[in-house]
Amino acid sequence: MIKNDLYLKALRGENVERPPVWMMRQAGRFLPEFRAMRDEYDFFTRCRTPELAAEITMMPIRRYPLDAAILFSDILVVPQAMGMDFKMVDSVGPWLETPIRTMEQVQNIEVPNVNDTLGYVFDAIELTLQKLDNDIPLIGFAGSPWTILCYCVEGKGSKAFDIAKSFCFQNPEAAHLLLQKITDTTIAYLKRKVEKGVSAVQVFDSWGGMLSPEDYQEFSWKYINQIVEALSPLTHVVVFGKGCWFALEEMTLSKVSALGVDWTIRPEYARVLTNHTMTLQGNFDPARLHSTPETIKKMVNEMINRFGKDRYIANLGHGILPNIPLENAEAFIRAVVDWKAN
Ligand code: CP3
Repeated sequence: MIKNDLYLKALRGENVERPPVWMMRQAGRFLPEFRAMRDEYDFFTRCRTPELAAEITMMPIRRYPLDAAILFSDILVVPQAMGMDFKMVDSVGPWLETPIRTMEQVQNIEVPNVNDTLGYVFDAIELTLQKLDNDIPLIGFAGSPWTILCYCVEGKGSKAFDIAKSFCFQNPEAAHLLLQKITDTTIAYLKRKVEKGVSAVQVFDSWGGMLSPEDYQEFSWKYINQIVEALSPLTHVVVFGKGCWFALEEMTLSKVSALGVDWTIRPEYARVLTNHTMTLQGNFDPARLHSTPETIKKMVNEMINRFGKDRYIANLGHGILPNIPLENAEAFIRAVVDWKAN
């Protein structure tokens, strides 16, 4: 039994004293102890070394009273396991030397055995669970097939992912084959994470908002929903679609336990679109953590009062920025922990 199960209660839709809180990208660059490790080990070495991944997962937990841990890893370990040799390059970010641009390349991509290729992630889960000692739940995650395709085709980050979009519109057959291969790998990967003991899985659709509502259905949601269908009998599935407010109604009809929302939607409207029945997660503007601790506290209180304390997981509307002062992140978390119904 997990001692602090506020996060799981919110996912089950149960009433709570206060909402649970965690921050997307909490195990990352805003922490000085994480940055200190960068000089010693490169990024994917940290992902591939279970002892390091478990230790990084614990960094924010040791500092702050968070209600959930998220395993330190990256969404790109999945395409790596499929044979795409992603590197993390300084001041560039994710980098794939030979991006996927043709049907022939897609046909040559394999759906790997996840135990052979991603065993280090499962070992990291085991070590992390020992360190967590059942104090709080551990969240496992994967990128959405569309978001992974964006990096595979573009070869790197992008503002609009127009090469990835052109690829889908010019070669829909190749795009769908690639999306299906990513989906099949992701389902096997997340199922194994659940077997290893994560309490929930979150699918990050960071670039879903680049698509029109119609294209979102065809190139993103269709595949995310396959993951939801496969995993929801086994665990809680949370879907975070950045910029995907237009899909909230459709997503609400699925078997997700919660939906993540970004800061561009009002809490009241997100509640309307999700029938007032869905657990919602979000949606503090990550840049707002540059406000003073006093302002952050005031804004967090407002955010909770507007979403309501039940069926709600306090979080940012996207990952924490690398330059956020520690005390501002703390102000955000403490404001949720200290929140009282008025
Ligand atoms: O704390 C956590 O949330 C767990 C760890 C986590 C990381 N990446 C670690 C990481 C998670 C959940 C991710 C997900 C991820 N990775 C996403 C989806 C979420 C989102 O923010 O949209 C995406 C799009 C990626 C791909 C990726 N990995 C990018 C775009 C970058 C940043 C590159 C840059 O230089 O800005 C990464 C690197 C990365 N992943 C870092 C961390 C802590 C920074 C690594 C470093 O600089 O040392």
